[in-house]
Amino acid sequence: MNQTSNKEFEIEVRKNIERQGENEELKKASIDWIRQSGKYSYNFSWLGRPIIQYPQDIIALQEIIWRVKPDLIIETGIAHGGSVILSASLLELNAFCGGPKDAFVMGIDIDIREHNRLAIESHPMSKRIKMLQGSSIDTKIVQLVKDLAADKKAILVILDSNHTHEHVLNELLAYAPLVSVGSYCVVLDTVIEDMPDGSYSDRPWGIGNNPKTAVYEFISKNNNFEIDKSIQNKLLITVALDGYLIRNS
Ligand SMILES: C[S@@+](CC[C@H](N)C(=O)[O-])C[C@H]1O[C@@H](n2cnc3c(N)ncnc32)[C@H](O)[C@@H]1O
Repeated sequence: MNQTSNKEFEIEVRKNIERQGENEELKKASIDWIRQSGKYSYNFSWLGRPIIQYPQDIIALQEIIWRVKPDLIIETGIAHGGSVILSASLLELNAFCGGPKDAFVMGIDIDIREHNRLAIESHPMSKRIKMLQGSSIDTKIVQLVKDLAADKKAILVILDSNHTHEHVLNELLAYAPLVSVGSYCVVLDTVIEDMPDGSYSDRPWGIGNNPKTAVYEFISKNNNFEIDKSIQNKLLITVALDGYLIRNS
């Protein structure tokens, strides 16, 4: 391999990502792959706890958390705890490297099962995790989170709870305004829109009623956010197609 400078390598990577974004065949193959993959996202863990994410999205979150250096991450949808532990561990690394010392994750879930709560509370990363049980769109929960956010400088929001259009739109209306300029509101599972009809017959969401339709409605009325396509063009395999929203003003 030719030795390149940092700048040249950055340019090469950017061009590669742009080429991927223009490659309709590759993008279609990636969606086809996801359509075949079933519960692939269940296969992984982070520091010992199950995380229901694709490895590609985990890398994207690492890149965002390193770049933004949040002092608060608001996450809806805790489940087994892997994703809040991921965020907490990346905040711990940021702090180790000179980032915000007291950064933490505010996780919200309507049903924090006892075994999950115990595992999260006894995890070494728990010092950077706070949890609230209740619906993420409950006005009391939203107010508690707003109060916590009031004195924070860099806020990242990650939405991964109930995936209906109405719920995600309400989460976006409640939490996106807390995102700091240059940071993100990451809306996971937008890919539901691209899955075969009937894939979620036991769920209230599906084609036409999911996080992606909520993102489109939100974006159409909030021009301080835009979809950062460079992230999905980089990942190709992601559950958050059109779900990485960057706050630009
Ligand atoms: C897909 S799982 C979250 C996965 C987790 N983020 C991870 O990466 O491992 C969805 C979670 O959302 C929670 N949930 C469902 N409806 C909710 C609501 N209205 N408010 C908050 N959480 C909700 C569920 O209890 C479940 O634990």
